[in-house]
This record gives sequence, structure tokens and C-alpha cells, in this order.
Amino acid sequence: MKTIIPVARDIKSLRKRIVRWRGQGLKTALVPTMGALHDGHLSLVDAVHKKADRVVASIYINPTQFAAGEDLSTYPRDEAGDLKKLKSHKTNLAYVPDNTEMYPDGFSTTVSVSGPANAGLEDKHRPHFFDGVATIVAKLLIQARCDIAIFGEKDYQQLLVITHMARDLNIPTQIYGGETIREIDGLAMSSRNMYLSDKEREIAPSLHKVLQDTAEKLRAGKVPKTVLASAKRTLTKTGFKTDYVEARNAETLAHLTPGKDEPVRLLAAAHLGKTRLIDNIAV
Ligand code: PAF
Repeated sequence: MKTIIPVARDIKSLRKRIVRWRGQGLKTALVPTMGALHDGHLSLVDAVHKKADRVVASIYINPTQFAAGEDLSTYPRDEAGDLKKLKSHKTNLAYVPDNTEMYPDGFSTTVSVSGPANAGLEDKHRPHFFDGVATIVAKLLIQARCDIAIFGEKDYQQLLVITHMARDLNIPTQIYGGETIREIDGLAMSSRNMYLSDKEREIAPSLHKVLQDTAEKLRAGKVPKTVLASAKRTLTKTGFKTDYVEARNAETLAHLTPGKDEPVRLLAAAHLGKTRLIDNIAV
């Protein structure tokens, strides 16, 4: 395939470029992705362009964060399209390793995370997920050794898990969160949105709408237990099968302490047919 931006397919060529940039005194940024890029990913590229001189985007569908029966085999793949999009957002290098580069024979180490990874949100419904994410992100951060890396706030629990993991393991890459980019009707952009049927796509923005209404009620001082139960009922009536709608401490994801003035994040996950959607907003 004719590549349109430089592509590193192994750790050695990735490092060679980054070491050269560092030697030139340039600040580097990493944008880890699983490909099937949309405007949400590209906004992360744009955001780190403002903080760094050179931007590397990785594209790797990490098998260890998928459980058996999840969508690993059908996860959308479009390397040529992704490279074009990265080029149009002035990405300096794409890092596209394969499974043998990332998990060579004999690979036997897992990063095991707790703290925000045990909040009873995504972890409750995808118990394998965060150790898989932490393992691959630790590898990517160590392989690239960029000054900064960015992850979307749409995966809010993931962002906190990665921030804690990098801090706990003294990985000297500064972690940033990038704001959630939405379709015009409010649906948070996600590579998995392409699984939605036309009918489901019409219903999908209700998830964000319910979060907005719920946040409004929480801000007005209504009892969290009552408004969260009502949010779940509304989602069920609209056609969702809800995994959770929860209001948590925005920094730790701990349950809220009644009467305490603390930053609050409202998080939800719900199935629409075969597609599982997640979203979150600040309260
Ligand atoms: O959010 C994602 O796309 C993935 O979980 C990540 C962070 C690239 C790790 O595979």
C-alpha cells in the first residue's frame, strides 16, 4: 500500500524518529487509537498540536481489552482511510504495530489496575477491560516515550485509570484529556456508532439528552438516587437496555458523599440492540 504519511510498524523505527525529534529539542505527543478514526480522534490530534511540535498517532486494535464474544473480529478497520485523515490533520507519524510486535511469543506480563478501575462502572460490565487497556497503554507510552499523550474524555473512567497508572508507574509522559466531540444531535462520536441501524441511530442521542436532563436535576439539588432511577426508566422506555447511570466523584469515581461539595461526573452505559454506547458529562 502506498503510504501518505510516514508509518512506523515496529518499535525500532518509532523510537528512531522520536529520538531524532528529541535530539532537535522538539516536544512530542502521542495519540493512542484503535483506528476507524472520526472527528473525536482528530480533535485529539488537533489539541496536542497546540502543546507539542511533533504528533504521533498509534493505530492498534488491542486484543487483550476485548473479552470473548465482544467485537474484536468485527471492530471497524480502515488503515488507508485513517492515514488520509491523519495526514489532513498534519500528524507527523503513524505508529501501526501488529500483534507480533506488541505481544511477541512468550509475552507474560499484565498491568493490573485498581482505584478508579474498580469503581463498579465499566469494570463491572467488562471485567477484563482495564487491565488490557493499562497493559497496552503502558507499552505504548514506554515505546514512544513522548512528552505528552492524550485520551478522550468520552471514555472517562479509562482516562482516570490511565492517568493513575502513568503516575503510579512513574511513566514520565504527561497525560491529558480531550473533550468529547458530538454529532449535531448530541450523540458522542464513537467508532462503534457505525454498528447502529437507522432506527437505533435516531434513538441514540437520547442517551446524551437523558444525561443532560439528569445533570440539570442534580444541579437543582434533587436527590441523586431518585433522579438516577428516573433516568434509567426513561432510557428503558426509549429502547435502551441500561448497564448503569451513575453520579460519581469526578476525580476518584467514588460514590458521592451526601452534603459534601465535590466535583460530580454523570456516567452512563446502555445497549441499543447489539451496540453498547457510553457517555458522560460534568454536573
Ligand atoms: O480508547 C481507545 O481507543 C483504546 O482503549 C486505547 C486507549 C487506544 C487503548 O487500546
